[in-house]
Amino acid sequence: MANNNHLDRVLVLELVRVTEAAAIAASKWVGKGDKNAADQAAVEALRAALNKLEIDGTIVIGEGERDEAPMLYIGEKVGLGEGPEIDIALDPLEGTTITANGGANALAVVALAEKGNLLNAPDVYMDKIGVGGGLPPGIIDLDKSPSDNVKAVAKARGKAVEDMMVCVLERPRHDYIINDLRKLGCKIKLIPDGDVAGVIATADRETGVDLYMGTGGAPEGVLAAAALRCIGGQFEGRLVFRNDDEKARARKWGIEDLDRKYNLEELASGDVIFAATGVTDGSLLKGVRLSKRGGYSTHSVVMRASTHTVRWVQTDHVPG
Ligand code: FBP
Repeated sequence: MANNNHLDRVLVLELVRVTEAAAIAASKWVGKGDKNAADQAAVEALRAALNKLEIDGTIVIGEGERDEAPMLYIGEKVGLGEGPEIDIALDPLEGTTITANGGANALAVVALAEKGNLLNAPDVYMDKIGVGGGLPPGIIDLDKSPSDNVKAVAKARGKAVEDMMVCVLERPRHDYIINDLRKLGCKIKLIPDGDVAGVIATADRETGVDLYMGTGGAPEGVLAAAALRCIGGQFEGRLVFRNDDEKARARKWGIEDLDRKYNLEELASGDVIFAATGVTDGSLLKGVRLSKRGGYSTHSVVMRASTHTVRWVQTDHVPG
């Protein structure tokens, strides 16, 4: 991408069309109690929009492996086949249950990078810790306790520990984090789903979230890292395997050191473009709404690592 600046700049805005299409399709299923239908609608719309882009794209993070996902599977070629060779990480509907339940923070998300610059993470879990920008390098460490990480960030920010807010997915596996943080006395924002938005929230002072920590999907970890590369922040992740089959899957995608701790650059390097459109209202974006002109109104963000530009895009889609 670095050699084709004009196309890059066009791609930044083109990418918003892709997440907008997925978000609008998924929005028709908000609150309808059918997460699979919502996901399917988002997948089909996102794929159709992606295939209009002038790229030679390969999905590296998508809906799963070829035998389990007929569309947007890992390795699928997308785009018109012309233009730069690009690796793509996507989640057409990040927060399928949120969408089905009419909850907050469901997003359509895509990240693009030059070939070879996104970790080909298998669909396993990842231990994650993330923090927003403006802090000394190495301030967070996955191998330190939750409370030690909070104390380090609080000190660097000149903030009282009691005023620090940590975002954590509400899962029994996170009881050890919650117990440790309760003893420390900081605030905890428990979210039911949607840790891409949870990580990004750390980079936006208005959310009040200082840190994200816990175990969630590895693909979502790479997407969150791509966003932080653009918007600024630090992140560490380590894959978590529940069985030998998951380990074999990681090896198949070229991951040899299964215990490796990845930093931001190792998850998403080089120039990266990240786009997200809100499906439901959230900390980052408004959800899809019916517009006064009879179509849909969408709210998106698109950002780029090489320039750190962050664009907020509000679009009124008139019925065709
Ligand atoms: P879906 O979009 O597949 O519903 O995933 C939502 C999510 O909450 C992610 O944000 C998170 O990384 C993952 O699920 C956590 O997995 P689990 O629900 O198994 O704890």
